Formats: sequence, structure tokens, C-alpha cells
Amino acid sequence: MPKKSAAVDLTTPESIALLERYGKIGLNASRSKDVAQSAKQSTAFQRLVQENDLDNAGLDEKQAGLCVDLTKEAGYENAAGKEKLSEPEVRYIVTAIKDGRLRSTDQVKAAVQYMESTKASRTATENDVGVNAQEFDKSCGVGVSFTADSLMSTLESYMQSLSVSSEAPTDWSGLQGFRANMKNGVPDLRWANGKDLAVAVEGLFGKMFGPKTAGAGGNTAAKEKAAKKADAPKSAGGAKSGAEVPVSATLTTDPTATPNPTSLFSEGFLSKLHKPGENPQIKPELKEKHLAWTKGRVFTRFPPEPNGYLHIGHAKAITIDFGYAKYHNGCCYLRFDDTNPTAEEGVYFDSILEMVRWLGFEPWKITYSSDNFQKLYDFAMELTKRGKAFVCHCDQETMAAAKGSGKGNPQPCPHRDRPVEENIREFQAMKDGKYPEKGACLRMKIDLSSGNPYMWDPVCYRVKDAPHHRTGTTWKIYPAYDFAHPLCDSLENITHSLCTLEFIDARSSYEWLCDALEVYKPRQYETARLSLQGTFLSKRKIRTLVEKGYVQGWDDPRLFTLIALRRRGIPPAAMLRFVEELGVSLSNSEIKLVRFEHAIRQTLELSAARVFLVLEPLRLTITNVPDDYSNELEKPIHPKVPGMGTVKCTLTKSVYVERDDFRAEPPADFNRLAPGKSVILIGSPYPITCTDFKTDPSGNVTEIICALEDGSGPSGDKKFKGKDASAIHWVSADKKQHVEVDEVRFFEPLFQSDDPSKVENFETDINPDSLKVFKGALLEPAFYPVAKKLIKDAKAEAVKRTKAAASFAQDRVEADASPAVQQGASPAETATHVPHDGDTPVATADQLVGMECIRFQAMRLAYFAADKESVIGCLEEDDSNEAGPRPGDRIVLNKIVSLKEEKGKKLA
Ligand SMILES: *[C@@H]1O[C@H](CO)[C@@H](O)[C@H](O)[C@H]1NC(C)=O
Ligand SMILES: *[C@@H]1O[C@H](CO)[C@@H](O)[C@H](O)[C@H]1NC(C)=O
Ligand SMILES: *[C@@H]1O[C@H](CO)[C@@H](O)[C@H](O)[C@H]1NC(C)=O
Repeated sequence: MPKKSAAVDLTTPESIALLERYGKIGLNASRSKDVAQSAKQSTAFQRLVQENDLDNAGLDEKQAGLCVDLTKEAGYENAAGKEKLSEPEVRYIVTAIKDGRLRSTDQVKAAVQYMESTKASRTATENDVGVNAQEFDKSCGVGVSFTADSLMSTLESYMQSLSVSSEAPTDWSGLQGFRANMKNGVPDLRWANGKDLAVAVEGLFGKMFGPKTAGAGGNTAAKEKAAKKADAPKSAGGAKSGAEVPVSATLTTDPTATPNPTSLFSEGFLSKLHKPGENPQIKPELKEKHLAWTKGRVFTRFPPEPNGYLHIGHAKAITIDFGYAKYHNGCCYLRFDDTNPTAEEGVYFDSILEMVRWLGFEPWKITYSSDNFQKLYDFAMELTKRGKAFVCHCDQETMAAAKGSGKGNPQPCPHRDRPVEENIREFQAMKDGKYPEKGACLRMKIDLSSGNPYMWDPVCYRVKDAPHHRTGTTWKIYPAYDFAHPLCDSLENITHSLCTLEFIDARSSYEWLCDALEVYKPRQYETARLSLQGTFLSKRKIRTLVEKGYVQGWDDPRLFTLIALRRRGIPPAAMLRFVEELGVSLSNSEIKLVRFEHAIRQTLELSAARVFLVLEPLRLTITNVPDDYSNELEKPIHPKVPGMGTVKCTLTKSVYVERDDFRAEPPADFNRLAPGKSVILIGSPYPITCTDFKTDPSGNVTEIICALEDGSGPSGDKKFKGKDASAIHWVSADKKQHVEVDEVRFFEPLFQSDDPSKVENFETDINPDSLKVFKGALLEPAFYPVAKKLIKDAKAEAVKRTKAAASFAQDRVEADASPAVQQGASPAETATHVPHDGDTPVATADQLVGMECIRFQAMRLAYFAADKESVIGCLEEDDSNEAGPRPGDRIVLNKIVSLKEEKGKKLA
């Protein structure tokens, strides 16, 4: 047998017969030669053919080729006994090639890798290699197929996910990085045809950034220059107004789409938590039962008390609780912790769920602590029977005094050692309403000598004579947080009970309680809460602000409730980005507001459309053009994202510019409008030069007079140098060419001091100028199509999400069909309904979309969003593309955030 592959002579009769055989098997001529040329390969292939009976298997050219690939990958060319896979394993793969599941060399490679890596975990019998077909298919990309279209749309949505976190390329120079990372971002791309993929990537870049230029890809100086140019289109803007380009091009970057923050969970503290089942239990069977039920999945919960609106601190809790489960393919409950009957109101339930969904999360189930009232009562009774709880009749002062108010360990309560029988009777009496409020309570009997005050016999149950919104007057006693919380966690099989640092000391009694009852014990982890400088989160104080009219409601954009932040236009993606950027810390600290604003700006920078808004209009008239002068200009919606399309604006003889952009007597460094000075009206090909201005009798400027420098102006074209001039925004003075804005609202901090919570009477600290309203501002007409497009996109996204939620609910129904799961309300119902107040559906697609989705950057001013008080008629006409003013329109804008960090400066 020849050793070297080069030595095979293909003209011998044997070789010719072999080539013929290979051809019959299915290999094409060139591949047949290839194989025959190498003796090693040829031998290996013949073995595979024989073992799998491939001579008459009717393989096509591609399948036959894949079988050759398989011989290599499986190590059939190695010395006997050194093959990577066994014969039955190879046979399994051959079958997958034959039945068309494996269609590429990459897939064959993956199949071999799968076999190798699962060798230890599979139980193979003689005829069955023990492959889990589903797993096999998944790791080999079976069924993943891309057409040119689906490839493009996959890449587009990946690009979108990048821009939400500002990682998207901003021009062609990002091509290499994009290519390098895309397969990590979208693992399925691994199975795309390499050439198709390359074509699609370039196509996408072309769509976004125009044709590839020679210099693209590395020269950062050139890149920056190009970016600058794009930002302030000095004289380029209106140059090409060829084909009609409507706003219809996709807004590639959607701030309402929410990314899944992952670094929070893949790095740092939250990456090191125990695996389900590793949390210790008092009895080993608890662990087994738990794992049998959870199947090793992660279970978390977000347990708000439904007694107020959520605030920015909750955004972190939501992100961690829901995000941790999502990251691990687990489940997160939204559990309304409604154990206190006196504090709850229906409106909070709706709002809480809506905010969870606004942030892009979907509860696995919505539950209520009150659903467990009977079970909790039974637990308390059991604890009493075990001699680990007692009924106490001390009044609150005695109890407080006994705790020694920080002066060391407490004295035992006189009722601590009463007989078990008596405790059972007394607790029953409490339940039966024989005691008035504060007449008796049930307390855990833990450890008065502990250094941890949570162990000093905390209260389990209190008498409360109040109807509960869900259980009515059934109960006269209600469980305390320290009792209900651990047991609800346990009942729901929570694997990771994530909470904030103030609960660290409570962990001891949490664990004691589960062990005392010998029930499954979740593991609690504590991380720092999010507190933002200058913000004000106390419900009581916010209520005062609302009731005394300092703010206009719980969603006043100056507040830091989530409904206020949403109304103000903060994108949910910015909230998540902020939480992710802060990371998880194990010590509390106050975060500076500028970091929050930074996250907002980063999110909006690449996604927000650019629109002209003239806040304080001052008329400007160009003298050297005819009265009916009208020059239709076209400018990009986003200078750095050409894919967002362009809009039209019309330059007329009279326009309005920002009053602040003119000085009658300019300081030396003033380079905007002033007598003798030139500026560019952004988008216009020519500069203008101020020749004069008019004033009213009080000396106020009423009009600026300018000349257009198109060669006929006073200074002549040649003398003018573009770089000497600033570019300013403007709108036409023609009523049809601008939109009147009813109100533009600017917000300043609500308090004068940095830490209003430290001020004794916070009302004295209120900033009287926290709201500034501008009336009479003007928008360019492009506002309407942009707004319409944004709402349409947001609705599509919301529908997508609610659909996903519904199918999620469906999965739940199926999961719940297994007998292990609790019965009760249909889970499909709980997924979309909070069953109260006559079963009101909440947070439908419509409710996830509000005026705040109309977010844009008013060039040179700030980022704005439309306020919920706005009325924009054309948005209602879903099927019409006509975007423009309707009678009765009212436009109110909220400033989201300034363009830059510096304060006090109005124009950037
Ligand atoms: C022959 O088949 C192989 C697959 O085994 C394929 O890659 C190659 O392009 C084919 N060659 C021709 C000339 O068709
Ligand atoms: C928790 O797990 C147990 C089994 O350990 C199961 O019986 C129970 O139904 C689960 N609880 C919930 C709320 O699904
Ligand atoms: C002139 O301008 C000042 C400041 O902008 C303003 O307070 C005043 O009312 C104006 N006067 C008239 C007559 O418009």
C-alpha cells in the first residue's frame, strides 16, 4: 500500500474502477479524484462506505461529499483504534446526512464534536448511541436556514440590539469589529453560508452608511472628520435632492426595544451565586423534591408591595430579579406582597405590571402573597405546635422597651414560656377575632441572646380589623413581612431570593423559619439598592408634593417614579443600560445624577431623529431673494445613520431663528448672528450674512435682515469661508412650513439641596423654578412624519412583545398541565390579567405605547419627548401615511435631557 498520497497513479485500471465506484456513490469527478489521490483518504472512505452500505444509497453529490468530510472529522484516517468516534456514532451522523438534517461541512464538524463531547454522558447500547436527537439537532444547527432576506433581517435586528447599547458601528470602519462579533451575538449565524453572510453584511453597511469609500476602515482621523462634517452639514445638506426619499427607511435604532443586560449576570457577584440545588437544606429530601419539581431551573421573584408607584430604585430590582432568571433561562414571579390590607389600592397593581413590561420583562406568573394566607396560617399553627412560636400580649411600648432600644439584648417577654396548648388556643382566638388590634400577636421564639436583633422573637402575625382587597373579611389576622416573605419564597420554590442590603440581618431569621418548619429553604442574596443623588423616593413625601400641588401628579416628569421617568421620555433601554453600567455592588452609595443622564444620552444619541425646534423664534428676512423664494432642501433624519432616511424642509424668504443666536452688540468671541457676521442655516447650501436688524420702541430686536451669499450678496462668494461660520437651526416663517408648539417644558431639580431627604422640612427646600415653560416655539413640519413613524415602530415592537408574552403564557399552560403544579386561576389568565377590579386587562400593547415614544433630538437644544397631554390627530389614522397637522392638535414637549453634561448653558 503506497504511503504518500502523491504516489497514486489515477490511470491504472484499479484507479479507474475506483473513480467509477466513487462516481456511483455520488461524488463528482473532481472530488472523486481528490479522494482517490490520497491512499489514506481513499481507504478511510471505503471503510465508511462499507460500514454504512453507501454504494447504492443514492447519495447526491453534496451528501457524498459530506461523507468524505465525515471520514476526516471522525478520524477514520487514523490508525485502527485511534478513530475519534465509534462505528455506531458515525452511522448516526451518516443517517443525519442522508435524511438531510446535516447539509454543510460545518454541521458535520459540529456533529462530530457533539458526539465527542457527549460520549461520557450518553448511555450507548449496541444499536443505539443514546443521542438526544433534539440536543443533537440544536448543536448542529439543524433546520437553521438562511435566505438572503432572512439573513439581512437577522443582521438588522442584531444591529438594532447593538445600537440600543451604543455598540453599533457608526460607519464603515466598524465593519471588521461587527464581523468579528456577530456570531457571538447571533449564534445561528454560524450556520449561514459564509459568502452569503459576507454579502449581507456589506449590504447592511451600504444601506446604513452609503457606498463603501476607499478610506473606510481604520483611519480614525479621517473618520472623525467625516463624522464632524455629518454632524453639522455646513453646506452639503441640500446638494442632492434627486429621488424622493420618504421617512420610511427603517429607524435602525429603537430606544423602546429593550436589550437584555448580561454583563450584570456574567461578571461579578451575580455570576457567582449557587446553582439550583446547591443551597443547603435541613433535610436532604427537600433538595430532591425541589430539584424534581424545578428541573434545575432558576426561580426568582420580584415582590413589590402594591401600596405605591414604583420608583427608579425598583428598576434595579426588576432588572436583577427578572434579568437573572432570563439570563439563566429560568422563571421570575411577579409577586404582589399584599399582606397589609390597609395600604393597597387597585391602581398600583396595574401600574406595577405595566412598568415591569415597560422595562421589557414578562412575569412567569403573577402571584399574590394573600393567595397563601391559609397556608401561612397553617405554617404558623405548625410552628406553634412545635413550640417555636408564642402568643404575646405586650403592648408596643413594652415590646420596644424589652428590645432595649439599642442597649443590648432584650428581656424575655412574660408570655414566652407559656405552654404549647395555651399558645394554640390563643392563636386560634386571635384568628377568631377575639382580640382587638394590638391585643395579641404571634411571635417566633428564636434567640434572645443573639447579637442579631432579627432573632429576638420577631412577630409572625398581628390582629388587624380591616378588609383585604382580595380576601375580604375572611381574616382578622395578617402575617408580618418577616414571616410571610420567607415562606412565600419557599412555597414558590425560589432558588435565588435577591434583595437589598438592608435585609442582610433578616437572612438569619429567614433561614431559621424555613428550618424550624422543615420546608424548602431558598437562599437569600443581598446587593446594594440604587439611590440617586437629589432624588426623592419617600412615598409619604411625594404624596405631600402631589397633594399640595408642588408637582402635578405622581407622574410629574420632575419626580423619579417610573411612571414619571417614562412620561418624561427616558427610554426603557436607558434604564437598563444605567443599571447594567452601575453593576452590582455590595455597599450602598449614592449615584450622581450625571451618570443616569449619561446613560440616557448614550441611548438616544444613535437612535433619536434630529428635528429643528426654535424655542424663542426671532424673525429673519433675506433681502436678496424674491418674495416667493422657496428652496426645498433635503436633510438626513440622523447625520450618522443614513438608514433613517431624510426629510424635506423649505427655505423661504423669511425664517425664524433662535433669539439667542443673535446679538446686536456681540462679544468678541461671538460667532453666530450679529451685524456683519455670517452663518449657515443648517441644510442650506449657502451662508447668510447679517446686514441689519429692526427693533421695537423699547429697543428689543424684532427682525434680523440678512443677505443670501449665493454670489449676489455683499461679500461675494469668494471671500466667504465656510469654516468661519456657525451652523444654526431654523424654521420657515411660512405658516404651512412650521408647526406651532403649545408648550415646551424644561425641568430642573425639584429641590435646591443635593440631598433633600436630609433637609428637616423638605418643603423649604423646594426649587421654585423647577419647571420652565416656553410657549410659542416652532417645529419643522418633519416632526409629523417622524412622530408617526416612531409610534408605528413602537406599536409594532409592543405587539411583538405582547405576542411573545402570550406564547409564554401558553407555554405556562402546557407546563402547568403537569400534575406537579399548583391549581388555581388559569395561568393564561394571570399572564395578561390581574384578577381584581372585575378582571381588568392591563398593559396591553396599546398601553406600552404612549406619546413618550415620540423622542427626538432638537438640534443644538436638547432631547425631547412628546408629553401625554399632546394631541396629534394623524397618529390615530393607522392606515394612512398622511402625516401632518389636524384641527385640535396640541403639542406639548418635555425635555428629556440636555445634549451635553454642562449645566446652565442653554445652547450647545
Ligand atoms: C464537487 O463536490 C464537492 C462536494 O463534495 C463540491 O464542493 C465541489 O464544488 C464539486 N465540484 C464541482 C466541479 O461541481
Ligand atoms: C414547589 O415545589 C413543590 C415540590 O417540591 C410543588 O409541589 C409545588 O407545587 C411548587 N410550588 C409552586 C408554587 O409551584
Ligand atoms: C423686551 O424684551 C424684554 C426681555 O426679553 C421683555 O421683558 C420685554 O417685555 C420686551 N419688551 C417688549 C415691548 O416686547
